[in-house]
Formats: sequence, structure tokens, C-alpha cells
Amino acid sequence: MLEYVTAGESHGPALHAIVSGYPAGVRVDRAFLDGRLLRRQGGYGRSKRQQMETDRARFLSGVRRGVTTGNPITIRITNRASNLAKLPSVTRPRPGHADLAGVLKFGHDGDARDVLERASARETAVRTAVGGLGALLLREFGIDVFGHVVRVGKVSFRGGALDEDVRDASPFFSLDPERDPQAREAVDEAGTDGDTLGGVVEVVAQGVWPGLGSNNQSDRRLDGRLAAALMAIPAIKGVEIGAGFSVARLRGSKAHDVIRHAKSGGLVRPTNRAGGLEGGMTNGQPLVVRAAMKPLSTLRRPLESVDLKTGARSDAHFERSDVTAVPAASVVAEAVVAFELARALCVKAGGDSLADLRAGGDAYLGRIASWWTP
Ligand SMILES: Cc1cc2nc3c(=O)[nH]c(=O)nc-3n(C[C@H](O)[C@H](O)[C@H](O)COP(=O)(O)O)c2cc1C
Repeated sequence: MLEYVTAGESHGPALHAIVSGYPAGVRVDRAFLDGRLLRRQGGYGRSKRQQMETDRARFLSGVRRGVTTGNPITIRITNRASNLAKLPSVTRPRPGHADLAGVLKFGHDGDARDVLERASARETAVRTAVGGLGALLLREFGIDVFGHVVRVGKVSFRGGALDEDVRDASPFFSLDPERDPQAREAVDEAGTDGDTLGGVVEVVAQGVWPGLGSNNQSDRRLDGRLAAALMAIPAIKGVEIGAGFSVARLRGSKAHDVIRHAKSGGLVRPTNRAGGLEGGMTNGQPLVVRAAMKPLSTLRRPLESVDLKTGARSDAHFERSDVTAVPAASVVAEAVVAFELARALCVKAGGDSLADLRAGGDAYLGRIASWWTP
């Protein structure tokens, strides 16, 4: 079973991930992975922390001569800003952050430092590297996972062709360069006010086989796994699949995607309101998921809080923080979706090596070829 754990603090020496169950025989394209790490560090509205780091994934196990071996893979990303011992205590918890709940849970004597060092989204750097491994595996099968931003604060971006060049040229990783200046203005205004902005990201996966995930058990439903993976990104508060919440307003006759014979053979779905998932399984249509990110909780103009050492009413703690991190969240969302899809693909096609996966995949795709082709 493909799975991972991560370790490391925001200002500790490094972040680590151990990935187990990853098939042998996959070439680890370092430029591909580091490109994603670089993209996660980018986007308009980030703090100076991002300029201090140059994230690179180093492999300490599970990869030999650039190819995965089937052994557990250890990834390391070094933190340049690693001054943990010198950082001050955090006794004034930030509403919306992990500070208060974490202090109560772990008993840190009123100091949230150890809590926020782990709750910090710096951890998503190594999650992005793990998801990059998922994306590399999917790429072997012609499956592409594309994350982009569809909203920042009140500015919504129009969709367009899923063009990497357009997205990567946008300071918001949007597909709508005309609206980027409006978003920039909104972020600047929020920043000037000592405030923050949230938004919405979308991830689309193309070329996905039908039948990934399962209707058989709740924990194997791919919709559930994707929602959990996306919700587990810090600050994500809502997830939609396909038409999502808007489908609740429609009649059934308008909500579903009819099934037709395609002229070229096989079946066609003229619409994709289901977002590529039916019954907890992919249905061969593009997978479309969206996640809503709340405005970040570290405010330069802080909210009301209480000093846990003195008990006095107090302004919440502030330290270096993003005004918005929605563009970065789109990269993390892309990563976690890629990992879940890769995991489901390994389950479907079986096998401990890329060659076994190919054989399993070919047999399966051969069996359904009269109904579905990539
Ligand atoms: C890429 C990314 C960057 C983030 N940067 C910040 C930040 O600079 N300041 C902040 O307060 N929260 C930031 N967050 C969100 C917090 O990590 C998150 O709100 C916190 O851990 C509490 O978790 P919750 O919001 O899911 O309840 C970021 C989240 C992501 C995904």
C-alpha cells in the first residue's frame, strides 16, 4: 500500500518524508520534482520566508542511480531558516491557528511554539515532494494532474485551457491573466490593512482510467480519500467534486451526465458534473476537485486573544506570515491529488514494479477497450 509520513519543524534543520509501497523502476526526475517545490514557494502575497529557502528534494533511501528500488523512500528538504532553539515562546494564541488547541492537547505550559512549528504549512513542502513522486508515476501512464487558482478573496478567475505556461506566468497561478491585476490589488489592500485573504483552488486530472477507487468500502472510496487529503492541507475548509455544492440546487434530470455511444466507438459523457467520480470510483472523465482556503490567521493587525502565561487579555501573536497563500495551496492540492490517484492506480493495476503495473494496466485497459480508451 502506497503511503507516507512526514516529520520536521518549520524552523528545524530539515523536513523529511518516508514513502513506502512505491513501485520499483520509476525514474526520479529531479527537475520535475524541484520545479513543483519552486512553484509552491511562489505566488503573489507570500512572506520573506520563501525568499530565504530554496527547496530541493534529496533522496536518502529507496532510489539508486536515479531509479526507485521498491524500498521505502526517504526524502529530505533542508531548512535554511533553522533557528528553532532561538525562537521566542508564543503565549498569545492566534485565533484560527493550531496554537490554543495544541497547547491544551500537548501540555506545553502555555507556550505554543512547538505546536506552531509543526502546524506551520512549511510541512507542505515535503508533502509536495511526495505528491511529485505520485505525479511521476501517473506520468508513466499518461495521466496529468494540473492545479490552478480559481479565486483569491472576491476576485474570481475565469477558466481556460489547462496551459502550464499561462498558469506559471501568472502571479496567482491562474488561467486568467486579465484578472491578475485585480487580485494583486486586493492582496495589496489586505496587506496594507494588516489583513489576509483566502480563495479557491482547482485540480484537474486528465487521462485517468475508469475504476480507480472502489464502491466497496467507505475507506476505499476515492471521493472520500481525495476530500480527506485536500481537507488535511492547512487552512482548507471546504472541498467540492465536480459541480459540488451547486448540484444541490438542481433536479436530478439536470444534475447527471448522460451516457451515449460515441461515433468513434466506446462511450461518451457530454457533460462532467460528476467531476469524474461516480460511486467512489473514477469514471474515465477528467477528475475535477476544488478546495476552499480560509484567509490566513496570522494577522499583522492581530485579533483579540489571551496571554496563556499571565491570563491577561492580549493581542494575538504575530510573526512573519503570508498575506495570501492560495497560489501555493494550489500546488499542494495538486500534489495530494496526484498521490491519492497514484495510490489508487497501484491498487487497481497491482504490482511492486513499474513493469508489473504496466502489465496489470494493459490487461485491464484491454478488457474495457470497447467501452473506454485513454
Ligand atoms: C501553502 C500554505 C501556506 C500557509 N502560510 C500561512 C502563513 O503564512 N500564516 C498563517 O497564519 N497560516 C498559513 N497557512 C495556514 C496555516 O498553516 C493553518 O491555518 C494552520 O495550520 C491551522 O490549521 P487550519 O487552518 O487547517 O485549522 C498556510 C497554509 C498553506 C497551505
